[in-house]
Amino acid sequence: MDATPSAAIEILAHEIERFPQNTGSEHDDRLKAYQAEVEQSLADPNAYWLNQANRIEWMRPPTQSLTYEWNTEKRIISHTCYADGILNATTSCLDRHANGERSEKTAIIWQGEESADVRRYTYTELRDEVCRCANVLKRLGAKKGDRIAIYLPLIPEAIIAMLACARIGAIHTVVFGGFSAESLRDRINNAEARILITANAGRRNGKVIPLKTWADEALRDAPTIAHVVVVRSTSDAVPMTSPRDHWYSDLTSNESTICEPEPMNAEDPLFILYTSGSTGKPKGVLHTTGGYLVQAALSHERVFGMREDDVYWCTADVGWITGHTYVVYGPLANGSTVLLYEGGPTYPNPGRTWDICDTHRVTVFYTAPTLIRLLMSHGDEWPSTFNLSTLRMLGCVGEPINPEAWRWYFDIIGKKRCPIMDTWWQTETGSILISPLAGIHDLKPGSALRPFFGIEAAILKPDGSVCGTKEGGALCLTRPWPGITRTLWGDHEKFIDTYFTANPNVYTAGDGCYRDEDGDLWILGRLDDVVNVAGHRIGTAEVESALVNHDTVAEAAIVPIRDPIKGQALAAFVTLMDGVTATPDLKQQLLLHVRTSIGPIAVPASLTFAPALPKTRSGKIMRRILRAIAEGNTNDLGDVSTLADPGVVDTLLRLKEPRNS
Ligand code: PRX
Repeated sequence: MDATPSAAIEILAHEIERFPQNTGSEHDDRLKAYQAEVEQSLADPNAYWLNQANRIEWMRPPTQSLTYEWNTEKRIISHTCYADGILNATTSCLDRHANGERSEKTAIIWQGEESADVRRYTYTELRDEVCRCANVLKRLGAKKGDRIAIYLPLIPEAIIAMLACARIGAIHTVVFGGFSAESLRDRINNAEARILITANAGRRNGKVIPLKTWADEALRDAPTIAHVVVVRSTSDAVPMTSPRDHWYSDLTSNESTICEPEPMNAEDPLFILYTSGSTGKPKGVLHTTGGYLVQAALSHERVFGMREDDVYWCTADVGWITGHTYVVYGPLANGSTVLLYEGGPTYPNPGRTWDICDTHRVTVFYTAPTLIRLLMSHGDEWPSTFNLSTLRMLGCVGEPINPEAWRWYFDIIGKKRCPIMDTWWQTETGSILISPLAGIHDLKPGSALRPFFGIEAAILKPDGSVCGTKEGGALCLTRPWPGITRTLWGDHEKFIDTYFTANPNVYTAGDGCYRDEDGDLWILGRLDDVVNVAGHRIGTAEVESALVNHDTVAEAAIVPIRDPIKGQALAAFVTLMDGVTATPDLKQQLLLHVRTSIGPIAVPASLTFAPALPKTRSGKIMRRILRAIAEGNTNDLGDVSTLADPGVVDTLLRLKEPRNS
């Protein structure tokens, strides 16, 4: 790795602001109880986690707690949690509510992009629909352990499909509807999925998202798929291929609403979710059933201090881990009312998000800093048009939040009443591992504050020693937790290499971090070649390989650049094959090529044709230099003496293209 990502351990000197969360004796009592729980969770993790298992339903309750081995030298990394417990995740998320006091409670409020498009499901209705869908999957031949791919817009059927898989013991792999046909195909093939559940189309910002068309393209080369179930989500017509394709409504209309939940061992897989790393194609992060669900429910309840009458809106799409844990499994296990919104956050105007909070009387709102910055850029008038008085708790996740955006969120949206939970976690961690707790910690804009119960963090220098106060280093977790990913699908060696080799016998998260003088944690961004664009993880290697796959491209380098709304954006430098001429048209073709290879989120914000890339004498591309050029920091090129040909830099400085509009 060259020096580029070290920006992520630079600590910017700034005044730390504090927002105290209550004082007085009540607070003292809460703080004492909290500290006692933290101590207990660390002193006796077995007892702590076994006790937490009681928050979900079991067919056979576990007697075993969290066991693990982290031995990098012997290359043994393994975990089990509740290994003798039997359960089905859906009974905790559905049946216990539907059969109890929450039977008529609203489980899902779905808001379509058109204001009038609203659908509600009570817990009983949701359980019935999940059972219908589960019976359909069985009828199509799905069995325990089969993989089922889900490629849907943010509609209730996305949640129904996930839970229907869990009901029958199939492993769902949800693919974000913004990913291209090629990305969908790669994921289906890697997981060897048998069934695909998709929709004719989705809708966003007034535009049609042609999911079925993309799915058809993906399926031209996805031989394991035997059936495609298509939800009719819009009125758009699509071709159906017989006998492969079936309309969801045709299949479910006569299905029974009774489907016995498949008994699953706590360590049986629940889902695979693909995420980007620093090399190669996205990897399938595997989560198992018991530990994941317990931790999802625990963290959702404690971080957001959930109350029975909350209307909870997490804006994530179910295609990402935040959607899995904090739209589906955590809140439904806790019997919450979950709001789901299919459309664009600023469509048809920049007040839309706040309009939805007002209309549905949202109490807890959880989103990404990129959305806060986007909404902030439209001014204070939009939120002030709406009644946001029901909000009581705010959250953010996915990337570092800049103090300015934090303050706007706190002042203008939360009216200084609502605490902000800046939650740090990852696809691999399964649930929130670092976060303030409301009413306990003083809040600090930009700090994710403290490890959650049972979590222990260390910040390490490159030589493995522990960083001092206000010294940036690699964020590591020194003991496991129930919801840690068990492996990367089909590639356990890669799992060990990625998370357990940089620092032996601890989990290295890939993020820079420092601890301030109060002991609070500040996340500084990725240390590896993963870029966080609008809260979405993108591997630079993935985009480079998409570009190099184009016939005209000889070599490509992708570097992250700062972006005022998205946090980071991508800048591409491309050298062309001999004889190919760099033209504006070719540039557009290459950008389109990235869009169709991966999806719109991976399209570089700038693309510069370069006769050569700056390389060391050993042939390594010096991305640090490219990044400085892309960001216009030409006084900050650093040491260029190790370049094989320093003249390359002058040429690049002349050629650097502005950002695409
Ligand atoms: O870099 C960190 C950033 O998001 C990465 C994980 O991305 P993903 O697996 O897609 O999951 C995103 C949602 C959980 C992390 O390695 N990240 C996540 N939360 C924060 C964050 N960076 C700073 N502050 C956060 N609160």
